[in-house]
Amino acid sequence: MSTDPHHPYRLAGVMGWPVAHSRSPAIHNHWIRHYGLNGSYVLLPVQPERLTDAVRGLRALGFAGCNITIPHKVAAMALVDRIDPLAARIGAINTIVVEKDGLLAGYNTDAYGYIQSLLDAQPHWRADAGPVTVLGAGGAARAILVALAERGAKEIRLCNRSLDKAQALAAEFGAPIRALPWEQRADALEGCALLVNTTSLGMKGQEPLEIALDQLPRQALVSDIIYVPLETPLLAAARARGNVGVDGLGMLLNQARPAFQHWFGVMPELTPELRRMIEATL
Ligand code: ATR
Repeated sequence: MSTDPHHPYRLAGVMGWPVAHSRSPAIHNHWIRHYGLNGSYVLLPVQPERLTDAVRGLRALGFAGCNITIPHKVAAMALVDRIDPLAARIGAINTIVVEKDGLLAGYNTDAYGYIQSLLDAQPHWRADAGPVTVLGAGGAARAILVALAERGAKEIRLCNRSLDKAQALAAEFGAPIRALPWEQRADALEGCALLVNTTSLGMKGQEPLEIALDQLPRQALVSDIIYVPLETPLLAAARARGNVGVDGLGMLLNQARPAFQHWFGVMPELTPELRRMIEATL
């Protein structure tokens, strides 16, 4: 460990349960090395009943902060002193920063990560380019819906197996979201500029997502937030008919960037080397 006085030693980590398979330590420790910083990013396996103690312990342990992941993203929000307005809208935090005054601030960088993953694939992408279809209305969908609405999406067609959950999100977030039954997912694609899968369908070990893409324009982006496997059946089908596909690894890597900046003071770059390194672990 270096003792360079210009770079104080900083600790960060990811609090979750289970958390052993998280790629976040590999991502953040790569950046710590790459930027010549002093510090470490560690796994913080914390059971739900210990979350309060663990979050309160961050300051005493000298942490700069931590990521919060499944299943703590909603519960942790009640344990911080300040909540960023975007995180409050999403209703979940994925990042805690121990501020200079010792107070804990909660952020959600998933929305940024998602939008940036689309921009990495298509630099001129715009949320208002046309209607968007979002599949799924769980926790992951919330950050994506808020992100798309913030970026100016004018029409979001939200399809979920349980229609009531889609309706509840449409009522909570308001225009431009419209809830549609799961059975209408193929028809919802008509004229769309973007299709996003936020369900677990297509993930390794799960059933594939069944959806006919015939009505989706070929210029539309197709994005899947799943990253195991990197090429889901949805992305394979989309690419086979000429649509640009965006995998979920881009969101994972990009959500880490502003969190790292909060703790270490550097906005880290996503390099092909880092992406290859993480791909090799999938
Ligand atoms: P996450 O936090 O990853 O979004 P979640 O909150 O459990 O996880 O949400 C999972 C999403 O996948 C939900 O939209 C779920 O639909 P329901 O709200 O009807 O449960 C969707 N999903 C999971 N299995 C599905 C299946 N077999 N068919 C259709 N949708 C499915």
